[in-house]
Amino acid sequence: MANQDGVTRREFVTSATGAAVGALVAGQGAIAAVQAKRRYAIVGTGVRAIGMWGRPILRDYPDLVELVGLCDINPLRVEVAKRQMGATCPTYTNFDDMLTKAKPDVVMVTTVDAFHSQYLVRAMERGVDVMTEKPMVIDEMQCRAVLDAEKKTGRKIVVTHNYRYAPKHQKIKELLMGGEIGRITSVDFTWFLDTTHGADYFRRWHRLRAKSSSLWVHKASHHFDLVNWWIDGEPVQVSALGSLANYGKSGPFRHTNCRSCPHKDKCSFYWDINKSPNLVALYNDCESADGYQRDGCVFKEDIDIFDTMNAVVKYSNGVNMSYSVNTFMPVEGYYLAFNGTKGRLEVRDYERQAWDPGEETGMYVMKSFGKRIKIDVPPEGGEGHGGGDQRLRDLIFKKIDAPAHMRLPDSRAGAMSCLTGIAARKSIDEGRPIKIADLVKFA
Ligand SMILES: NC(=O)c1ccc[n+]([C@@H]2O[C@H](COP(=O)([O-])OP(=O)(O)OC[C@H]3O[C@@H](n4cnc5c(N)ncnc54)[C@H](O)[C@@H]3O)[C@@H](O)[C@H]2O)c1
Repeated sequence: MANQDGVTRREFVTSATGAAVGALVAGQGAIAAVQAKRRYAIVGTGVRAIGMWGRPILRDYPDLVELVGLCDINPLRVEVAKRQMGATCPTYTNFDDMLTKAKPDVVMVTTVDAFHSQYLVRAMERGVDVMTEKPMVIDEMQCRAVLDAEKKTGRKIVVTHNYRYAPKHQKIKELLMGGEIGRITSVDFTWFLDTTHGADYFRRWHRLRAKSSSLWVHKASHHFDLVNWWIDGEPVQVSALGSLANYGKSGPFRHTNCRSCPHKDKCSFYWDINKSPNLVALYNDCESADGYQRDGCVFKEDIDIFDTMNAVVKYSNGVNMSYSVNTFMPVEGYYLAFNGTKGRLEVRDYERQAWDPGEETGMYVMKSFGKRIKIDVPPEGGEGHGGGDQRLRDLIFKKIDAPAHMRLPDSRAGAMSCLTGIAARKSIDEGRPIKIADLVKFA
């Protein structure tokens, strides 16, 4: 049977992203009717806007989506971004101006984290639905403002938590939902960021609490969202510890940025941005407008976030979690275990290291008083974050009818993923456990 665009269900599923999306929708009712082209505008035109949204929108969904405006405070970068996306729409440096002239149905927010909330609120006040990159907000005041605006205006917020859509993460969700380990009692979660990816956060705005809140929110909100979703719970209380042990003031020497650094021959973190013509065009060539150096020194004295973080989190359904993230590791990936009344689900994910780990993801269900069962981990199936980016875009733009647990994350999910990290940072600052209900009250 063909849908309104004359595409059969079979053609649609196979042409979407192949097996991964096919698996997502298998057995799940019909595809939602295809609607008229939706008008999308983007605010914040850095690499994420280009690679995750602008370019794929134009490449993969030309019949479903129209890109009607791009906005950034840097007038040079917004033009480079437009070129790198291959877009033809108008560009703006004033957000209100874009809303008035481009008349989008939906605004995608991909700015620096600290500014997500102001654009979400403004767009909703102007009657426009919004999608935002994580984190939705960086503190509890922003969280309240966004939730209030959503309630007042009746507009819709989608938080694009792409990690949920990696096939291996969906597999974990299904094993837990299937009761393989009984009732979940606790979670052990250890995330490793390596000397490439981890260091990159200390080169740019993420290094400042005022811009990112810290990696407790910028990075860990990914992980906290996964846990909330996996265990079907919400955080209640957080205790945390953190330090800046390797970057910032802890470094042996420093300079403004790598390009002009006198220490480049002896610095293990030296990074040559000139090897990437796209990054040179998007950042170096636009520095004159805002002073944003993409290759900033990881040992700058103004770095005020943590590089070493540990937390204990209590959840609404009685689950406890011990969590850590370290940012200068020889490995990228994670150790994850769910302990339950009938066993344990253990996962070791090897994303990047200088040796062959044998397998990329090892997943095992260990039955109490029983056997260890090796789980077949589904292949990535698509581009970006284990195929999650592509599957998420398909869900958003093709309006695939997904099962309830795979539907798009809403503002409550966005809030809960951020509030765990906001509470963790506050717990370190104040040296005490922080209750989520003391930050934001939910009905
Ligand atoms: N979900 C994911 O896996 C994922 C991955 C990468 C980035 N992100 C998120 O995407 C967002 C953008 O990240 P990025 O790596 O592209 O950063 P970036 O620094 O490359 O780009 C941010 C852009 O925002 C612009 N900007 C800064 N302040 C602004 C303001 N007040 N108004 C309008 N524009 C402003 C900057 O000029 C820049 O062009 C971040 O929120 C980040 O957390 C998510």
